[in-house]
Amino acid sequence: MNNLLDQITALAKRRGFIYPTSEIYGGLTSSYDYGPLGVELLNNIKRLWWKEFITKRDDMVGLDSQIMLRPETWVASGHVTSFADPLVEDKVTNKRYRADHLIEAWLQQHQDIKDVVIENMSIDEMAEFLQTHAVKSPDGNDITRPKSFNLLFETHLGVVAGEKSTVYLRGETAQGIFSNFKNVLDSTRVKLPFGIGQIGKSFRNEITSGQFVFRTLEFEQGEIEYFFDPEGTDWEQLFKSWQDAMWHFVTSTLGINIENLRWRKHTDKERSHYSKDTYDLEYHFPFGWKELWGIAYRTDYDLKQHIQYSGVDLQYRDPVSGRTFVPHVIEPAVGINRLFLMALVDSFVEKEKRTVLQLKPQLAPKLVAVFPLVANKEELVAKAHSVYKLLKAHDLAVAWDERGNIGKRYLSQDEAGTPWCVTIDYDTLKDDTVTVRDRDTTKQDRIKITKLIDYFHSLFFE
Ligand code: GAP
Repeated sequence: MNNLLDQITALAKRRGFIYPTSEIYGGLTSSYDYGPLGVELLNNIKRLWWKEFITKRDDMVGLDSQIMLRPETWVASGHVTSFADPLVEDKVTNKRYRADHLIEAWLQQHQDIKDVVIENMSIDEMAEFLQTHAVKSPDGNDITRPKSFNLLFETHLGVVAGEKSTVYLRGETAQGIFSNFKNVLDSTRVKLPFGIGQIGKSFRNEITSGQFVFRTLEFEQGEIEYFFDPEGTDWEQLFKSWQDAMWHFVTSTLGINIENLRWRKHTDKERSHYSKDTYDLEYHFPFGWKELWGIAYRTDYDLKQHIQYSGVDLQYRDPVSGRTFVPHVIEPAVGINRLFLMALVDSFVEKEKRTVLQLKPQLAPKLVAVFPLVANKEELVAKAHSVYKLLKAHDLAVAWDERGNIGKRYLSQDEAGTPWCVTIDYDTLKDDTVTVRDRDTTKQDRIKITKLIDYFHSLFFE
């Protein structure tokens, strides 16, 4: 078991960030609900993503397409035939495992074997490896030969009978963007190069569990399809500028430590056949370096596939030259829930008997907590309430706490990631000043109530 991940999982449950889904029925595999603090953090991440990649830019528009699309979409995209993981089955327990994950675990125990690149292995090569090294299941039992297992969730529409009723829950948000490409062109004033971005739920029938919200059945993606003319644009330069934008978002906007981030280029064998170049921005999670955010140059593959399968012309007509062509695409695609887990891991600190989530204030579920020094003095409580209401009236996310003593309240807010605590004490009643305590330094400032809003604004927007 991973100690840091266990600690974070426990804190997330205890403080209302994340709960196991359907816990009262024993839970549902690889599924989690976001509690009162968690949903605020999740929303903050989505809001920052939207602002940075859609609202702030002149070359981006947003979209919100459906989870269920016409099933032909997934035939055209290749998901119906090749969106699959190699799975083996434990011959005794019938539990399924990903063949690549079993090989990865085996290699970790046999560090003398260094020349195996799992990403490059075909399903037959995995089968040979598992057989040659007599790899067993985690329960120590024999396993079956790996088989391809499609990740798309299937469901059925009530209005059509038989096979024609099959629809899929989307495996990525990207295809809703491609299928609306012409609508966006026809209904807006966009000109190449431009991008369409959306945030939304995607679904994959994942069988791997035990990595908390890193890999779940249901998750949110923030995907961008950036369309351009391959004749007029240097794709390598464009690709690099999107890598820089991703890096900026993670390090500067979310405040993540750069030592915990690295780029990994996909090998030729690993890369999808339609992609000319793919990189993963990886984060050092407690279970190793793993993909956080992918960026791929998908060429004109997707639009061409949809032209072929729908029969609709999805070409772009250059308004100056009149030339018509199928635009090419660069796709930065991230999992919002992975950003969430990264934010928890990266901000989790234990110091001087305190557990602190040192989240950037822009991410913190609550920005300020307000306390009366003691809960049984009416005047203090009333004054604290007026400060609480003042901060709320200025749209700050404010928490109220009057339980236990001040020390316990500080510890509780530290765990919740609240950057500042405001205490109303007897001096407040005399001179209208309050104590503001900083989560990260524990330093305390004495501030006039009339200056509080400016004070927080200056810290928040520093
Ligand atoms: N349209 C391209 C695409 O979907 P992907 O690498 O399969 O590419 C993009 O997914 C991102 O979505 C990943 O980098 C990851 O952050 C996130 N993601 C993928 N599968 C996930 C899962 N089962 N649970 C949580 N996040 C996932």
